[in-house]
Amino acid sequence: MTIVHLRRARTSLVLDARGPGLPRVVHWGADLGPLPAADLPALVDATVPPVVPSSFDAPTVLSLLPEASAGWSGRPGLAGHRDGRDWSTAFRLDTVDVDDPRGGGGEAVRVSEEDRDHGGAGAARVTVRAADPGAGLSLTVEITLSAAGLLTVRHRLRNDGDRPYEVRELTPVLPVPAVATELLDLTGRWCRERAPQRHPWPMGAWVREGRHGRTGHDATLLLVAGTPGFGFGHGETWAVHTAWSGDHVTVAERRPTGEATLGGGELLAPGEILLGPGEEYATPLLYAVHSADGLDGLSDVLHTHLRARPEHPRGPRPVTLNVWEAVYFDHDLDRLKGLADRAAEVGVERFVLDDGWFRGRRHDRAGLGDWWVDDDVWPDGLQPLIDHVRKHGMQFGLWVEPEMVNPDSDLFRAHPDWVLQAPGRLPPEWRHQQVLDLAHPDAYAHLLDRLDAVLREHDGIAYLKWDHNRDLTEAGHAGRPAVHAQTVAVYRLLDDLRARHPGLEIESCSSGGARVDLEILRRTDRVWASDCNDALERLSIQRWTGLLLPPELIGTHIGPERSHTTHRVHDLGFRAATALFGHHGIEWDISGISATERIELAAWVALHKRLRPLLHGGRVVRVDHPDPAVQAHGVVAHDRSHAVYAVSRLATSAAQVPGAVRLPGLDPARRYLVRPPAGVPEPALLELAPPGWLASDGGVTLSGSVLGSVGLQLPALHPEQALLLEVAAVD
Ligand code: DGJ
Repeated sequence: MTIVHLRRARTSLVLDARGPGLPRVVHWGADLGPLPAADLPALVDATVPPVVPSSFDAPTVLSLLPEASAGWSGRPGLAGHRDGRDWSTAFRLDTVDVDDPRGGGGEAVRVSEEDRDHGGAGAARVTVRAADPGAGLSLTVEITLSAAGLLTVRHRLRNDGDRPYEVRELTPVLPVPAVATELLDLTGRWCRERAPQRHPWPMGAWVREGRHGRTGHDATLLLVAGTPGFGFGHGETWAVHTAWSGDHVTVAERRPTGEATLGGGELLAPGEILLGPGEEYATPLLYAVHSADGLDGLSDVLHTHLRARPEHPRGPRPVTLNVWEAVYFDHDLDRLKGLADRAAEVGVERFVLDDGWFRGRRHDRAGLGDWWVDDDVWPDGLQPLIDHVRKHGMQFGLWVEPEMVNPDSDLFRAHPDWVLQAPGRLPPEWRHQQVLDLAHPDAYAHLLDRLDAVLREHDGIAYLKWDHNRDLTEAGHAGRPAVHAQTVAVYRLLDDLRARHPGLEIESCSSGGARVDLEILRRTDRVWASDCNDALERLSIQRWTGLLLPPELIGTHIGPERSHTTHRVHDLGFRAATALFGHHGIEWDISGISATERIELAAWVALHKRLRPLLHGGRVVRVDHPDPAVQAHGVVAHDRSHAVYAVSRLATSAAQVPGAVRLPGLDPARRYLVRPPAGVPEPALLELAPPGWLASDGGVTLSGSVLGSVGLQLPALHPEQALLLEVAAVD
């Protein structure tokens, strides 16, 4: 047993695993450098809290699984029992295995620049095994610190007794130092996902629960604690993400005894997890990330880590046209072929046929579950459209919503028992649909075979948009709560389908962005961030979704001039400049647009393609601008030779001139040419004369230091206008 020091990128993790109890995280945060082995016990001692009046007679030691037996009186790490007994634990350490290929402990670890930028190279792993024979339980704690500096923790609890043990809650937690005094998390709803909320971190627990049976529109992709006033580019921050697509909790807790923790796990219903003898329950992965440089630093670690995963989508992300807002349920082969022709003309690379192609699906009240092509609407099947799309060199994608069933469907009429429900009653309907019980082996097998058949029976379906349009409500299987079983079954379904169809890409959609989490993203290739294509709303939705995910994983489409969901009207420049920063696409009936608009749209698509390697590989930066009506963000190449920024005016401001915009992320020592990108029209400006540097065609050349510290005075944009700036190193 030992004190473990892991270092990766800019992060250190020190664990006191000397026993006899569970390991304590002594430090999770900034890289401590190559500590000599002799310093580690001193570091541990220096962080043990004092004994104070009216408290336990020995210091309380907060472990990765807080226990009352160790003097913890906050939220318990484990809640469970065996017939009302074995309700409290005192785990004792058995083994600690450290797998740290680049040397850990007190030894110096060299972190190359390459490792900083590419999280793929060697993660460090610690596996802790502990047992409480009296309670008949054993625990395995799996910790990894990826090359990018991303920490993950997972607990596995095994029932060693001979009678069932009920797990009510099992939640890994990590300590955060007292300097973190503010919290930021995200909430949301349909069409307004990822709305930030922040406040001082008070005593008590700030608990974000999701009981939707899916990740939820309101799920906080990160729960962030930080030093006072932290922003995108400044402040020290710690954050966690609970990677689970079912009911889950993410929690920040601060105790009068001085401890502060971040944690997250699954929310379990009574009786949901009853472990038989020898059975095990594993928590979702808790992802944890630290940054010394504000929120952008958190994204750096997360994006670098995600991009290094073997399953991360490689190659240029195809510019997509999704037909939903163009035709809704009005499917007509000739009309869709015409739309495909227009799509190809403007440079689209993937054409996605949305809801409405299968039996009985003329509206949202019928058909879900009957995954056969509707002969009435598609007398010759989908193949003629697929062939037409592919003839243009575009990929073909298809919408499905596999987990759902309309009561008005052949599937429901044949198998009313294949629906998640409490005994004796069906859940209230939502969008006229119910949820199939995937823990039912026949329902699961039927669904897998149907999806498989749809893919096999057509030549050329490269992509599925996998939707999920309702919460799970009173979701029971055979009389028992079943959100956990359903969530696990969905993961298995995706895995099985992908194994049968290697190369198939899948989008995670759930009434827009209600299934965005890192566990669904282990088996899907992008998320649909929101059903709202209004650029003004999208600026915020994308900014905050992007805190967790790199742009290439976030679907961003140019919608019609008048937004279908908000009825706001925006010109193409604002819509396109906003949709540029993601997995780009179009969701608009472009068959009726004017020739001029088509040319402009094609220019925007071409600009995206030209900038795509930068947008989908570079470092995301956001500007901390003092005026809330100004939002600016950008992507900077890792070698800092090239960048693109968007400055958007959200509304009018009290000040007519909102102040210069600094361009973060550039190399202070290099000189850069800054100008709007060629090929697309600049916004029609309010002013009689724009700032001098913008008026000259050549743009302006300045150092990265000036651009980052002084910034540029921008033209007075109208509300709901955006200006793009392309920045290229000239030396
Ligand atoms: C909800 C999705 O978010 C939309 O994009 C669309 O696919 C509809 N469902 C179709 O029913």
